[in-house]
Amino acid sequence: MSKLVVISNRVAVPKARGVAGAQGGLAGALNSALKEHRGIWFGWSGEECDEYTGSINIQRNDGVTTATMDLPKQDVDEYYNGYANSTLWPLFHYRIDLTEYEREFGKGYERVNERFAESAAPLIEPDDMVWVHDYHLLPLGERLRARGLDNRIGFFLHIPWPPTRLFVSLPFHERLVETMLHYDVLGFQTGEWLESFLHYCRKELGATVDEATGRVEYQGRVTYAKAYPIGIDFDHLTAQGKTEEAKIAGEKLLSSTRDRIAAIGVDRLDYSKGLPERIDGLARFFDQNPDRVRDLVYIQIAPPSREDVESYQKIRNELEQKTGQINGARSEVDIVPIRYVNRGHSLAELCGFYRTAKICLVTPLRDGMNLVAKEYIAAQDPDDPGVLVLSRFAGAAQQMQEAVLVNPHSPDDLSHAIKTALDMPLKERKRRYDALIKTVRDDNVQDWTKNFADDLAMLGKN
Ligand code: G6P
Repeated sequence: MSKLVVISNRVAVPKARGVAGAQGGLAGALNSALKEHRGIWFGWSGEECDEYTGSINIQRNDGVTTATMDLPKQDVDEYYNGYANSTLWPLFHYRIDLTEYEREFGKGYERVNERFAESAAPLIEPDDMVWVHDYHLLPLGERLRARGLDNRIGFFLHIPWPPTRLFVSLPFHERLVETMLHYDVLGFQTGEWLESFLHYCRKELGATVDEATGRVEYQGRVTYAKAYPIGIDFDHLTAQGKTEEAKIAGEKLLSSTRDRIAAIGVDRLDYSKGLPERIDGLARFFDQNPDRVRDLVYIQIAPPSREDVESYQKIRNELEQKTGQINGARSEVDIVPIRYVNRGHSLAELCGFYRTAKICLVTPLRDGMNLVAKEYIAAQDPDDPGVLVLSRFAGAAQQMQEAVLVNPHSPDDLSHAIKTALDMPLKERKRRYDALIKTVRDDNVQDWTKNFADDLAMLGKN
């Protein structure tokens, strides 16, 4: 019987799994997806070793088999901190100002992709389907093909694909995309990122592209590119929301906010999440509505991320400074308008917080999808739901039009959205919730996995 082999940089080993807010959407989603299939999940252990040995550590937890390898410090610096998170991540989030183009990073990226191919290939049997994930491993399909694998190999990008005019600033951009055209199926979060990718293939590579079906033909190979918006594990989240842990977390938040309305934000501490801009929006709200400082408390949960990368150190300092300034200027002896928490929390605790918080601010400047938006809606009490304020630039906005949509760059727009959310009558909250919960419940992670796996099995076979 064939199995599913999932390959991603980050693997949700048990240690990481408890800290939902810190791991980003990918690991949680894949963990759920893999439980459905007899499969194996291969990736980096997150640990450094003295020398690369290629040895693999296999574990079985909770219905999922993981296989992980350690990487030497130079690989971690050049591939993970370097090319993945100092070149591709900022560029793909439209932050060309933060993008670093170092040759050593590119070389490290190629070297580590080759290591992934070398270590993963022996785990793959002839009938297996291989599903590679995210920007760390764009060339892996081609590396596996070079080892003679003719399995069905698919790829899913969890982050945006940038417009062609930005993407061409990347040295060797053609070579990178050419390697991607060795996959059978390429998945993107939304139609917008897909459109940018197809535009690039047509304009820059001269590939034959059929926009209607996503068929891309290049140098005799055919790849299908399509949008598969990722969802959450709705049943798992609902179950977590009913636990004692969730109840205790919710009550703790409620009792500490007393008669004020709690608004919440849960984000990895990343410049793409629009955190300083969000704090500016809150400050604008307090300035424009001074009588409401006593009505609202904002809780920002922001576990630190990629701390060895300079741009992440900078954003952390900036955020600390901003929250400090705003709290200094607007606190009273008995109230502090913004609570800023750097640690991650379990999914159960987050569910408790989400249900207590009457407003959730999800205002990234760019985001492939954003699963916090979906988790927040899933955790609401249907009889008294809270309000989701969502950036138009998050992939999730395409499916979640009934959220209060904002331009996260505009403090006035944010301030207005916060006021709208605070004053929204129950009837209107329910109307919006009823529409939003449909897509969150029905377009879930099981559905996403099935859609992708079905296409990977079938598309272009005839
Ligand atoms: C985003 C990326 C994932 C990544 C996650 C956490 O969601 O799309 O690939 O795993 O962030 O980032 P980290 O660098 O800690 O893996």
